Amino acid sequence: MIIVSYVKKSLFFTSYLFIFFPFFTIQNRIGMNSIERLEWRYATKKFDSTKKLSENQLNILKSAFTLTATSYGLQPLKLLVISNQKIKNDLLEHSYNQQQVVDCSHLLVICIKTTIDSNYIDEKFDLEKEVRGTPEETINDFRAFLKDEFSNKTSEEIEYSSINQAYIALGNLITVCAFESIDSCPMEGFNPEKFDEVLDLKSQQLKSVLALPVGFRNDDCFMSTLKKVRIPIEESVINVD
Ligand SMILES: Cc1cc2nc3c(=O)[nH]c(=O)nc-3n(C[C@H](O)[C@H](O)[C@H](O)COP(=O)(O)O)c2cc1C
Repeated sequence: MIIVSYVKKSLFFTSYLFIFFPFFTIQNRIGMNSIERLEWRYATKKFDSTKKLSENQLNILKSAFTLTATSYGLQPLKLLVISNQKIKNDLLEHSYNQQQVVDCSHLLVICIKTTIDSNYIDEKFDLEKEVRGTPEETINDFRAFLKDEFSNKTSEEIEYSSINQAYIALGNLITVCAFESIDSCPMEGFNPEKFDEVLDLKSQQLKSVLALPVGFRNDDCFMSTLKKVRIPIEESVINVD
């Protein structure tokens, strides 16, 4: 009797798998789950200030930032993770009074390094040797090329290139937030010079570029239920067959 019941249960479970498995794989293949996550995300204006990200969620965002692809792998960026409420309050007036900065769980600020010099490039290659065991002769030419490339750039050109990397990190972070059910609001709307002052960034050879309040949407944030406004795919994508 017990055996019959066991066989029946197994058959039921197996048929369940057969019916639903193709559905799951098709869903994944056409990426509907990803698109649903991206539809869920919106630039959150009103956070619930009582809800805080867990240590695990913060670690995921820190890892996502670190894993961001950067030109030549140089990572000319730093991420500030601000939980200090007084500092968040101080930054409000330099953020066009955008309340997200104060009510979020954590305020992330993406900064660029102000110098990418020969020493910094050496450190990057030394790290590669340490992590991958790459022999010096394999990386020698590339090391020399990068040093030459950067010594011929003006500081404005280096800064411009680093700012581009900051935007890649922002894109990465808002996407990972969406996948982790964390709300966020990408922000250019602040005074970077004032942020640098409040956060004492100059002494650390850093400049703020972008802010990203993260946390959890307030239930009465009216923006959360608004439809996405986007130019139709047929107009924004050109297929070249
Ligand atoms: C680089 C960048 C800077 C932005 N700056 C601000 C900002 O300062 N304040 C704000 O409320 N939203 C800001 N946004 C959010 C955009 O307005 C928003 O992403 C856009 O209207 C699309 O809406 P959605 O993100 O809700 O889909 C910014 C977005 C990006 C990508």
